[in-house]
Amino acid sequence: MARFSIPIMRFVFLCFWAASTEAVYMKYKDPKQPLGVRIKDLIWRMTLEEKIGQMMQIERGFASADVIRKYYIGSVLSGGGSVPAPKASAEAWVDMVNEFQRGALSTRLGIPMIYGIDAVHGHNNVYKATIFPHNVGLGVTRDPVLVKKIGVATALEVRATGIPYAFAPCIAVCRDPRWGRCYESYSEDHKIVQAMTEIIPGLQGDIPANSRKGIPFVSGMTKIAACAKHFVGDGGTIKGIDENNTVIDLHGLLSVHMPAYIDSIRKGVSTVMVSYSSWNGKKMHANHDLVTGFLKDKLKFRGFVISDWLGIDKITSPPHANYSYSVQAGILTGIDMVMVPQDFVEFLNDLTFQAKNKIIPMSRIDDAVKRILRVKFMMGLFEKPLADLSLVNQLGSQEHRELAREAVRKSLVLLKNGKTIANPLLPLPKKASKILVAGSHADNLGYQCGGWTIEWQGLGGNDLTIGTTILTAINNNVDPSTRVVYNENPDVEFVKSNKFSYAIVVVGEHAYSEMYGDSQNLTIAKPGVSTIHNVCGAVQCVVIIVSGRPVVIEPHLATMDALVAAWLPGTEGQGIADLLFGDYGFTGKLARTWFKTVDQLPMNVGDPHYDPLFPFGFGLMTKPLRDN
Ligand SMILES: *[C@@H]1O[C@H](CO)[C@@H](O)[C@H](O)[C@H]1NC(C)=O
Ligand SMILES: *[C@@H]1O[C@H](CO)[C@@H](O)[C@H](O)[C@H]1NC(C)=O
Ligand SMILES: *[C@@H]1O[C@H](CO)[C@@H](O)[C@H](O)[C@H]1NC(C)=O
Repeated sequence: MARFSIPIMRFVFLCFWAASTEAVYMKYKDPKQPLGVRIKDLIWRMTLEEKIGQMMQIERGFASADVIRKYYIGSVLSGGGSVPAPKASAEAWVDMVNEFQRGALSTRLGIPMIYGIDAVHGHNNVYKATIFPHNVGLGVTRDPVLVKKIGVATALEVRATGIPYAFAPCIAVCRDPRWGRCYESYSEDHKIVQAMTEIIPGLQGDIPANSRKGIPFVSGMTKIAACAKHFVGDGGTIKGIDENNTVIDLHGLLSVHMPAYIDSIRKGVSTVMVSYSSWNGKKMHANHDLVTGFLKDKLKFRGFVISDWLGIDKITSPPHANYSYSVQAGILTGIDMVMVPQDFVEFLNDLTFQAKNKIIPMSRIDDAVKRILRVKFMMGLFEKPLADLSLVNQLGSQEHRELAREAVRKSLVLLKNGKTIANPLLPLPKKASKILVAGSHADNLGYQCGGWTIEWQGLGGNDLTIGTTILTAINNNVDPSTRVVYNENPDVEFVKSNKFSYAIVVVGEHAYSEMYGDSQNLTIAKPGVSTIHNVCGAVQCVVIIVSGRPVVIEPHLATMDALVAAWLPGTEGQGIADLLFGDYGFTGKLARTWFKTVDQLPMNVGDPHYDPLFPFGFGLMTKPLRDN
């Protein structure tokens, strides 16, 4: 047996020790290293292929652990309605996200992917989640503290399903209700939209006092990365046409559509999504001056910029006409992560070619990757990439439903109460011999929730998810001796012959979202108008409008005794009954101008020749019957 001296043994041992720890110790994996050091260390190790992988976001339907491993995919999303299985449980969501994550972790450098989803009024793709009122109703509340709490609750429900990133909030300033996404906007008034960016610290957590401007911030495993969208001017398009052209001078753009971005960045928003729309004819996905010059350089935004779904494809008309041009234009504009979402090999090939041939400088690729890594490091994804089941009970919790119910109460606007001021109809008596509930929207949870609920365009009917319809809420709230008769679309004879004490008519718009939601006529869905006239012509009635925006109401107003705008209240219909019967008072004030006729549009507060049916800020108040 050979004998070695102690010093030689020690030397050999040290060599092995150093070699093995060198293999294990990688600076970027060390949470004690400063963020900048970790980013630098990691990016130095990355190949071009790995860098481009980070810049791709693909749809879950085209993703698998193998695809993510093979192409170094940096991000996966659920498009609207894209779920692991219909009515999937929180556990099933966690399993799916973790499975994708294991693919990412098994790559050479083990960079975790980030999963994103449209959680725009609660965790709205997910069965059993609490569905909060859409933003159009939240603007009415004028209550940023409430909206922040909604952000806290939404973050918990999103994390319950293993997801760390939401494409919210939409901080559009909708200037024309003909736009099908107007309900995603808090208000036509940018000051209200600015105030409601409080949802960002709700979703992400409060930034530390010493945080530098523009640095993204997510405070831990119960918070999620947010996304201010759609940069910029999405709510200002001609005639409210979706994805169209916003014609306004620079001063107008900066004073109406930009201010909420400044607030969002100050509050540490992690990501910004680019708008499909154009500004004075130039596609925002190709607008270098605004995306790089303004957002990144002037506002010092340090998170990542993400495209919209097929957003770079739509730089050309028709979309995808010249994809290599789209890739080049989009990346040179300053987009960091591309929501591809399907043909990622084509994207990968084009961008690889352009980077290798220096059509796109490596400095631009590195800028994109640094920003994506900054968000991932900052939010602790490297330390805890896999989700556990500890938050599953947050999904649709009673506490969150109570919060949503409060939001519903504060988002309703009482537009008329009694044919004369001396004879208010509301609050309604709980005790009456027989009352009528009518209308297409009285017992329809899908319409009540609107678009971006379970499905991209939303649904009708009651079995899409768990919630309380307005009819159920009324039944819950009236005296047990009161007989509630429900007839969706009664004729005049039925109403007259029944001798109802009063009637509640609930009508409005069917569910819709982007692309399909634009309307040039803004009418109530059939047979809503005839229901209003059949009922209100025969008995005292309150009409409740369930809609994503002001609709044509002027010709029917005289026949109604009372009128309530309920917007798109979500799953907690009980909040409406809370106000109808006086358990709480009405406090909401319009955050949008209610027009008389569509040919007045666009018409916003502050315009010359302002002649609305109900002006911005209008809303009648009632006192609660009892103290609550
Ligand atoms: C705006 O809409 C019109 C009418 O649909 C269309 O012809 C035009 O190309 C659109 N413009 C943009 C910038 O999308
Ligand atoms: C596509 O765009 C590239 C880059 O601008 C250009 O060189 C090429 O001619 C375009 N191809 C077509 C078919 O328009
Ligand atoms: C209003 O426009 C929508 C589509 O935007 C259409 O489906 C509906 O039929 C129109 N209603 C009337 C009364 O013209």
